[in-house]
Amino acid sequence: MIGPELKFKDQVVIVTGSSSGIGKACAIHFANQGAHVVVNYSSNAEEGQNTLDEILSNGGSGILVKADVSREEEVLAMFRETINKFGKLDVLVSNAGLQKDSPFLEMTLQQWQKVIDVNLTGMFLTCRAAARQFVSQVENATEPSHSELSIGKIILMSSVHDVIPWAGHVNYAASKGGIMMFMKSISQELAPHKIRVNSVSPGAIKTPINKEVWSDPNKYNDLLNLIPYKRIGTPQDVAKAVAWLASDDSDYVNGETLYIDGGMTLYPEFADNG
Ligand code: BGC
Repeated sequence: MIGPELKFKDQVVIVTGSSSGIGKACAIHFANQGAHVVVNYSSNAEEGQNTLDEILSNGGSGILVKADVSREEEVLAMFRETINKFGKLDVLVSNAGLQKDSPFLEMTLQQWQKVIDVNLTGMFLTCRAAARQFVSQVENATEPSHSELSIGKIILMSSVHDVIPWAGHVNYAASKGGIMMFMKSISQELAPHKIRVNSVSPGAIKTPINKEVWSDPNKYNDLLNLIPYKRIGTPQDVAKAVAWLASDDSDYVNGETLYIDGGMTLYPEFADNG
């Protein structure tokens, strides 16, 4: 529910891929803190509507926009709709992503391309649109701002697989590794504009993307062996970290990746080995 501390009151936040999983939790979390949220989905309108309904029933504000982030014209239309409705943009959470798993020897070009298109090109298209919007808001401002704080924040949804190699998922790992350098490079380029760009890298979070693993007791136990903290993450664990990176509390943080993974990147196999 809307809490007493509305950290994002009247801010406008786009969360791509917010019809389910981590994106949905982010959208609801921002709305609960007073933001106007653009809930984006690519194919499942019903799930997108569920996210928006939850926001509205909590007393929050938002709109639902269909757009495939890998298609330039759809991304541009989503940003136009956002500005038409709310007049500005404060935060982009570039979250939309997917897996098309396959052993490398059998991976098709289509499986490779789809993952790169959505997970990496989608970041390019949405981040570019957000950065252009932030810059134009400053150029078109009626009076100069005296604030030292960031004029716009971008958070990219990466994964522990931006540093952990992942056999059977090379398209996904390559896309996430790509996000790391994309994020750092645009952060370096956009910082002089006072735009902050950072990523979060979740480990195993209980969402539809890895249901096959956490819903099978044997696979679930194997998974816990990879997590020193011995629990699977929740979408809210990630949403809270995203909100911190989007807030002025992290105003001096640029080009960083925050791992939200219960220690998965600590090489847990070495705890009693090596
Ligand atoms: C993947 C999940 C996986 C997790 C840890 C995530 O990026 O989407 O399927 O469980 O990484 O391996």
